[in-house]
Amino acid sequence: MEIKKVFVVGAGLMGGGIAQVCAQAGIDVILNDVWSVGKFIEKGKVQEDLEQIMSRIESTVDYERVTEAGLVIEAVFENLELKQKVFREIDGLARKDAVIATNTSAIPISELASVTARPERVLGLHFFSPAPMMQAVEVIRGIATSDSVFATAKAFVLQIGKEPIMVNRDVAGFVINRINFPSAIEAMRLVEQGVATVKEIDKGLRLGSGRKMGIF
Ligand SMILES: NC(=O)c1ccc[n+]([C@@H]2O[C@H](COP(=O)([O-])OP(=O)(O)OC[C@H]3O[C@@H](n4cnc5c(N)ncnc54)[C@H](O)[C@@H]3O)[C@@H](O)[C@H]2O)c1
Repeated sequence: MEIKKVFVVGAGLMGGGIAQVCAQAGIDVILNDVWSVGKFIEKGKVQEDLEQIMSRIESTVDYERVTEAGLVIEAVFENLELKQKVFREIDGLARKDAVIATNTSAIPISELASVTARPERVLGLHFFSPAPMMQAVEVIRGIATSDSVFATAKAFVLQIGKEPIMVNRDVAGFVINRINFPSAIEAMRLVEQGVATVKEIDKGLRLGSGRKMGIF
């Protein structure tokens, strides 16, 4: 299924960035938040006219227009109760063939899918911050996610010019954060123990491990 319109719930740091990425890829976006702010303008190195890209993004304070979207991406605060409430409401309105995704960093996909009547159409689409700059998007399979939904989400990530990182199981931290967080803790321990300074560690990781931003 080709995604032609995306409904993003939560127009914060991540939701705004995700909307921008979709619009740059020629996809229409309806951006939903509890207040109607359009404060997501960011000047990227794009070929297309800024106004033309921004004209693909509309904003709304309610969920009624979720019926128009083939893909819904939830990016509200990292809070289980809030996300489950959003998922229940979206499930009641979204098209039967819609894919419902969460951008959660740490909440199990299956705990969100379980409050819907269609857990097979729910999965994780984990963008990294800042979304317009970061190429990787983890595509995370929940316990019940169907093969076709997993494949549709992968195709969508390619459609918006990003690289899908396919995560076959809904485990804590998924893949990238699961690897990054223990390294970050180890780096903090090394600073605490006086082994090296923040500056030296970041320089070392930039020059020795190819990490563009270091770890701090
Ligand atoms: N910030 C990051 O680096 C990062 C990276 C990857 C994933 N995430 C995940 O993305 C999600 C959003 O994070 P963020 O950093 O963009 O947060 P944020 O605080 O910048 O934005 C959250 C937005 O959700 C809106 N919101 C709250 N309740 C809502 C509701 N009921 N309906 C619609 N909108 C609502 C808020 O008004 C706010 O604009 C979280 O699950 C977070 O874990 C964050």
